[in-house]
Amino acid sequence: MFKEERHLRVSKIKEGTVIDHIKAGSALHVLRILGITGKEGYIVSIVMNVPSKKLGKKDIVKIEKRELNPQEVNLIALIAPNATINIIRDYNVVKKVKVTLPTKIKGFPRCANPNCITNAGREPVKPEFTVISREPLRLRCVYCGRDTTMEDIIKQLSQG
Ligand code: CTP
Ligand code: ZN
Repeated sequence: MFKEERHLRVSKIKEGTVIDHIKAGSALHVLRILGITGKEGYIVSIVMNVPSKKLGKKDIVKIEKRELNPQEVNLIALIAPNATINIIRDYNVVKKVKVTLPTKIKGFPRCANPNCITNAGREPVKPEFTVISREPLRLRCVYCGRDTTMEDIIKQLSQG
């Protein structure tokens, strides 16, 4: 990476996760969807708008001493559909996974329609969507037909 440059912008990490090839501008959304606020104490490095052969520009997030579970990897696919997740142990990339957004998603996020049965107060039905578009993200609720977008997801994340 950056062979043409004289130094790395952010040093290699010893243990943890590097989320690479995030669309430029989405790094903070990735942290938010993982629930990382900075208060947990992890060392987190964020690089934004670095040149990338594949994407033109990209963001990178490095989280030390934290590995992601499959559910978290799926969440990242919603926000950063081209991301690569690298698991680092003892300075080596021991696992590299390209995130994939399935055509159907279940359980997350909430439907943007407050009157949808998936938002009903008691015993709500689990949200379920068909992915209509990946970029920009557009998820169509299988129950009410309303679309939920990235902006809706970000809003939900910040409301907790
Ligand atoms: N990385 C890191 N610390 C390490 C090893 C790797 O921070 N100890 C970072 C690299 O800087 C890079 C990412 O993890 O951003 C993936 O590393 P690597 O697979 O070596 O890089 P590439 O071959 O460029 O990855 P790809 O083919 O996925 O573009
Ligand atoms: Zn709905």
